[in-house]
Amino acid sequence: MTRILILSSSTSTVAALSGVAGDARPDACVDDVIAELYGTLAGELGYEVAHAEVGSAAELERAVRTFRPTVAFNLCESLEGESRFESVVPVLLRRLGVAFTGSPADALRTCLHKYESNEVLRRAGVRVPFTRRLLSSGELVALPLPAIVKPDREDGSVGIDATSIVHDLPAARARVDALIEELHQPVVVQEYVAGREISVSFLGYPAPRVLPLGEISFDTSVEGGPEILTYAAKWHPESVDFVTTKPVAAAVAPTEMRKLAACARRAFTALGLRDYGRVDLRVDAAGEPWVIDVNPNCDLSHEGGFMRAARRAGLDRAETLSLIVRGALLRSVEVLARGTA
Ligand SMILES: Nc1ncnc2c1ncn2[C@@H]1O[C@H](COP(=O)(O)OP(=O)(O)O)[C@@H](O)[C@H]1O
Ligand SMILES: [Mg+2]
Repeated sequence: MTRILILSSSTSTVAALSGVAGDARPDACVDDVIAELYGTLAGELGYEVAHAEVGSAAELERAVRTFRPTVAFNLCESLEGESRFESVVPVLLRRLGVAFTGSPADALRTCLHKYESNEVLRRAGVRVPFTRRLLSSGELVALPLPAIVKPDREDGSVGIDATSIVHDLPAARARVDALIEELHQPVVVQEYVAGREISVSFLGYPAPRVLPLGEISFDTSVEGGPEILTYAAKWHPESVDFVTTKPVAAAVAPTEMRKLAACARRAFTALGLRDYGRVDLRVDAAGEPWVIDVNPNCDLSHEGGFMRAARRAGLDRAETLSLIVRGALLRSVEVLARGTA
């Protein structure tokens, strides 16, 4: 019987991860995903399933040795309370000889760092906004304006609000200083790309298919509504940002759709993503796509962009998850033959 071990970071770790003082990203979201995943894998798909919350390499190893899974469903976002150790999880699983869902270590590590992933894409010929990485505002002498200031290694829009978009050097410096003080990490200052925000989701292994495109629609008629997906727009349902920002199906002509999908696919491939993931683009006034964010092992919650895209393709939760698991199952056969994941 196929045995699936769902691995997630221990809750205390997730809380520590959310980074912004006094404002934890709701752990409930993570719990919901695990509950839904568990229910679908064990119920509709009939696998033998266990879930382990791991906070350290030793706990991960113990869980694997105890349950002896055919594959691991990797939902870990950190280890030892550090998002930087997220990419250690695939390394450990590989060493333990267990095939796992989602992207390998290199992809997770590179995508966690905004500057580095931007560089990889630029070198691969993918259109990306001009980006600089800074350790202090003193390094900031010139920049393309307007620009957006973001923490180098966060996701979920941590550290992003209306003041992230800057129109002059003093404002950029102030935002850089504020972010470094708040999040204790390098920041990136990036050319701001005005235009539609489109997300392109991929599913399947070895040849991922493109799911119907999603768009973040910004209601600019409301006073104070943002033009970007801020932290509040993502996590605070009572905020103006949240109510003026809606994930919708993207209405795009077939030729444009092919152009956007091709651009996103180049990014998915260049960064070495696998099984599933979401590439976020901004489309400028000339209709050219710019890659702003690549998300391996992206959020699988019901309301997340990826699951919405899968539903638009007519796939229900069970079908989507079984396609993700299928990739790992295919590799588990190779693992058996080779003796390493
Ligand atoms: N270069 C950019 N031009 C325009 N908008 C941007 C740019 N970079 C980020 N944004 C906006 O900020 C949001 C969060 O930035 P992103 O790089 O995706 O961070 P995270 O990794 O936290 O999701 C994006 O969804 C988008 O709305
Ligand atoms: Mg993003």
